[in-house]
Amino acid sequence: MEHKKSIKDANGKLGVLTPGMGAVSTTFIAGVIAATKGLGKPIGSISQMGKIRLGKRTENNNPNIKDFVPLASLDNLVFGGWDIYEDNVYTAGLNAGVLDKDLLNEIKDELSEISPMSAVFDSKFVKNIEGPNIKYEPTKMDAAKALMADIEEFKKINNCDRLVMVWCASTEVYIQVSDIHLSIDLFEKALEENHPAIAPSMIYAYAAIKSGVPFANGAPNLTVDIPALLQLADKLNVPVAGKDFKTGQTLMKTILGPGLKTRLLGIDGWFSTNILGNRDGEVLDNEEAFKTKEISKLSVLDSVLEPDVYPELYKDMYHKVRINYYPPKGDDKESWDNIDIFGWLGYKMQIKVNFLCKDSILAAPVVLDLAIFMDLASRAGMKGIQEWLSFYFKSPQTKEGLIPIHDIFLQKIKLENTLRHLMDEELINHLGLDYYEED
Ligand SMILES: NC(=O)c1ccc[n+]([C@@H]2O[C@H](COP(=O)([O-])OP(=O)(O)OC[C@H]3O[C@@H](n4cnc5c(N)ncnc54)[C@H](O)[C@@H]3O)[C@@H](O)[C@H]2O)c1
Repeated sequence: MEHKKSIKDANGKLGVLTPGMGAVSTTFIAGVIAATKGLGKPIGSISQMGKIRLGKRTENNNPNIKDFVPLASLDNLVFGGWDIYEDNVYTAGLNAGVLDKDLLNEIKDELSEISPMSAVFDSKFVKNIEGPNIKYEPTKMDAAKALMADIEEFKKINNCDRLVMVWCASTEVYIQVSDIHLSIDLFEKALEENHPAIAPSMIYAYAAIKSGVPFANGAPNLTVDIPALLQLADKLNVPVAGKDFKTGQTLMKTILGPGLKTRLLGIDGWFSTNILGNRDGEVLDNEEAFKTKEISKLSVLDSVLEPDVYPELYKDMYHKVRINYYPPKGDDKESWDNIDIFGWLGYKMQIKVNFLCKDSILAAPVVLDLAIFMDLASRAGMKGIQEWLSFYFKSPQTKEGLIPIHDIFLQKIKLENTLRHLMDEELINHLGLDYYEED
């Protein structure tokens, strides 16, 4: 298919860099390599398996998204990243315990070649873990410069045409926007002065943006959602997106919530609890890190249900989220949702959801799509917040003052219409009256 001239072509290698090479990152990397060798299918990835309807329903024109828009092909992806542990992707993948050993062994050579670069880390921001593979730089600005040197070196060694960065590292403790986050001048001064309010994730995001590399945040921590970094992204024409991959329980919430609301069923309470035993669970066992996650998980329902617009149905809803670290579960997270709903004349009913999911299996296609679509955004000249990628996030980043859209079905329409828009195709509004008009 012809593509719009203003989108640069997708030829050449695309380097995908992930700060954090734990369960999610290794499942993503191994999965892509396995898919390119025909050892598995990239299920759950819109960029690889999605179709898009073009024109009227009667035209029956549903090309693959990857044939409709110029996307980097899986064969052209190369992988790198940073971690506080020295394990290469093969060993880290084995430790994560998500993918079968047999599968990892089939691609052992490729995975063993990818070793993490030394990390910018601060134990004040991530508690409960420590590792040896860390950069020790005098100031946070020096740390940012060291990351920029890593990025440049990676690009050169791997002969990459373009790069993207997706944060797959541990969730950092909860912090709020403070003065030094408000402008790029103040932020850069604070980097020089080693200011305590600059988190490692912000240093990675700064290094990425300064290097012209799109940055997406897969965790709920305050990172690229501060005015300073948004200003910089705008100035340097770099796309950014966040935050917190939408997988597992929140995915179910954004599927069920809009469904219940569409039928105008009321909700008295929604109690969500999780047990998980991977390293992510261990980090989230710390109260401050849990708070970051809790806020991200709680925001979803309010925005889906709009209690101010429908006070009789949702204003008094009690919403509680718990996460408990339970090592025997490993990456096989289990979640329970108890939803107390009411219908006609206020009669009460209950829904129970018990989701036995594999967190990283749900997250891996999200990382892939974000890498592929952030690269597309960059080649299409899109800069700053990429709201059309809200589909992938628990707390979609939007322009200040703009209410995020959490409803997964609206998010999907937005994503598809953005692709149609980029390709000068007619947008689809689902009105459909024209099918019934007389000629
Ligand atoms: N799995 C999911 O479904 C899901 C969903 C939403 C968000 N997330 C988030 O994605 C992130 C990764 O999840 P995971 O299951 O892979 O966790 P993980 O603990 O297996 O991997 C995270 C890795 O990040 C490393 N790390 C921590 N701080 C770092 C730093 N400053 N620089 C470089 N590396 C650093 C850790 O050493 C660890 O290896 C977490 O923040 C998690 O909350 C995951």
